[in-house]
Amino acid sequence: MSEPSSAPLFACRDLYLDLGGREILRDIGFEIEPGEVLGIIGPNGAGKTSLLEILSGRYTPKSGEVFYNGRDINKLRLFERARLGIGRTYQTPVVCEDLTVGETFKAARQAYKPYLTRFDAEYAAALVHFTADEDTPCAQLKTFERRQLLLANILMKQPKLLLMDEPAAGLINSEIDQIDSILRMLSKEMNIAVVIVEHRIELLDTIADRVVVMDAGEIIAAGLLGDVVNSPQVRAAYFEHVE
Ligand SMILES: Nc1ncnc2c1ncn2[C@@H]1O[C@H](COP(=O)(O)OP(=O)(O)O)[C@@H](O)[C@H]1O
Ligand SMILES: [Mg+2]
Repeated sequence: MSEPSSAPLFACRDLYLDLGGREILRDIGFEIEPGEVLGIIGPNGAGKTSLLEILSGRYTPKSGEVFYNGRDINKLRLFERARLGIGRTYQTPVVCEDLTVGETFKAARQAYKPYLTRFDAEYAAALVHFTADEDTPCAQLKTFERRQLLLANILMKQPKLLLMDEPAAGLINSEIDQIDSILRMLSKEMNIAVVIVEHRIELLDTIADRVVVMDAGEIIAAGLLGDVVNSPQVRAAYFEHVE
């Protein structure tokens, strides 16, 4: 694949995925530019997480392509995509419970060559408003703090694109407000592109520039949030699945 200068930062097209003999995703495609926030919404089971697994390199699609800066990255594995600047967060924030906060940052710094400095870690922690003392055992961190710690570890590497799976799941309103302001700052001030999966429409209202709506493995609508939520297909998908 050549690298036209007009290529979007990140794009996928014609993605199909089978798991356990079942078709999970069908004909998925979208593009995203630096600094943009693209929301992916849809009822539980729509295939949102499976899509992130493909984009981050954990699942191999049956067919279709993923491009980064115009380069075909289909064959690259998770850590290779991470090195290129694609960061991924998970719905369940898994930290190493045997380590302290300081030890976690140190391990993250030393995962890069050349090693990142303490300053890099402190800077990344400040970006996500993470304030836990470095002696704090990770086992004692709340869900929100775990998300902050993991996001800080990714931000140290100065990613160009974040793939985030339900970063607000299990959080209280004041924490969700902080996620909002953190993501706004990362996208609009640091020009990081963010693909954020969320099944609650109202949460994307303030941060998403555009949304893609998925249902039963397909994209059923795409565009501005205000426009797509009024589409009959989207309303039907939500009323069918959400009480
Ligand atoms: N490893 C797997 N093997 C088989 N089916 C799976 C697997 N992971 C997810 N699925 C199925 O794929 C569909 C989409 O799941 P998922 O991507 O987790 O949806 P969402 O994140 O939108 O809730 C669901 O029907 C789910 O049961
Ligand atoms: Mg999911």
